Amino acid sequence: MKRISSAAVAVLLGAHQVFAGPVAAGPLALRQSGTFVPKPGYFPEKGDDTIAGGIFCISLSDLATYLQRTGNNPGATGSESPKGAGAVTSGSGPYPAAMVSDSSLPNHTIYAPKSPPANITLPFISWGNGGCAPSSSSYRNMLTEIASYGYVIAADGPATGSGSGQTKVQDQRDSLDWAMKGGASKYGNINLENITTAGHSCGGLEAMSTAYHDTRVKRIMMFDIAIFQDDRRYLLQEIKVPVAWFVGGPKDMGYPNAEKDYALLNAGLPAYKASLDTGHGGTYGATNGGKFGKAAVAYLQWQYRNDAKSKAVLLDPASQGSLVSDHWNVTYKNWT
Ligand SMILES: *[C@@H]1O[C@H](CO)[C@@H](O)[C@H](O)[C@H]1NC(C)=O
Ligand SMILES: *[C@@H]1O[C@H](CO)[C@@H](O)[C@H](O)[C@H]1NC(C)=O
Ligand SMILES: *[C@@H]1O[C@H](CO)[C@@H](O)[C@H](O)[C@H]1NC(C)=O
Ligand SMILES: *[C@@H]1O[C@H](CO)[C@@H](O)[C@H](O)[C@H]1NC(C)=O
Repeated sequence: MKRISSAAVAVLLGAHQVFAGPVAAGPLALRQSGTFVPKPGYFPEKGDDTIAGGIFCISLSDLATYLQRTGNNPGATGSESPKGAGAVTSGSGPYPAAMVSDSSLPNHTIYAPKSPPANITLPFISWGNGGCAPSSSSYRNMLTEIASYGYVIAADGPATGSGSGQTKVQDQRDSLDWAMKGGASKYGNINLENITTAGHSCGGLEAMSTAYHDTRVKRIMMFDIAIFQDDRRYLLQEIKVPVAWFVGGPKDMGYPNAEKDYALLNAGLPAYKASLDTGHGGTYGATNGGKFGKAAVAYLQWQYRNDAKSKAVLLDPASQGSLVSDHWNVTYKNWT
């Protein structure tokens, strides 16, 4: 049996400072028992659980066991992994964007166009971080890139200062509630019918748990992650909106699980799955979020703005700048 070092688990957790102590003490010291017990046919009212990330997630102790069993190394990189840290920009889109703190949502970080665009409505995204860490700093480049195309994102965790612990479903729900009450309206004309939950790793599972039984959420985007435990995949029956997975190839622990979840979604539900050889870490820190940033923008522009060019980038390998030409493996179903 291959042992996974606590350093590897720290990488998975986004190497956020807050985890340095507990991880050094060994993953088993982190045992958290969730209260949700999966049972086919049992669908709790809400996606919350006592463990970070909610009912679709895994506790840190169970994750350590999972990694030991599969031999997966969350720190492994691939041929498409960024070679170094990217530059912080205002994004490549038409609405230069920035990361800001907002006193009306102090435990989160906002990514939005610097000037409210006057000629478009802005879809809203609630974002969860790897490790369900209360800091989105590792995703700043990608989230700024998305915002620069006319999106407002509330990410878990404050922009400054060190949050502690792990985030829960309620953190992403707080973002949705804030937007629904008009909290984001200072950033532009928010389209409250165009709401996405999304996240990386633990934050992606948190996004799915947040979307569960919440009809405000119209799309779910999963980055380098899918359900770990076979015994809770039946919960996918309650997912009623299209899901997109962007994963990091066979070295990514999200890869085999995304294959399973993609196949198990309710019949007829549109789904998209793309895989790039990056391992679990994606390209979030590259300038403008690299190829993951480009893919995320294209997906959102297709879904919310009916942008034909973006749709072609995702679905047509022969189109200019297609994800296939960027070396993604692409699978999709049920789109018209
Ligand atoms: C909105 O205005 C900006 C310039 O402020 C422009 O770049 C963008 O193309 C316009 N968008 C639409 C959809 O007309
Ligand atoms: C901020 O979020 C973290 C993570 O969920 C939580 O532990 C903490 O209590 C929150 N702080 C405030 C002031 O709400
Ligand atoms: C976006 O909002 C419009 C209403 O402004 C709605 O008609 C459309 O279905 C929404 N798109 C998605 C993908 O939910
Ligand atoms: C793409 O698909 C090929 C053929 O199945 C596979 O060998 C390769 O590992 C995949 N690459 C990624 C990044 O998923």
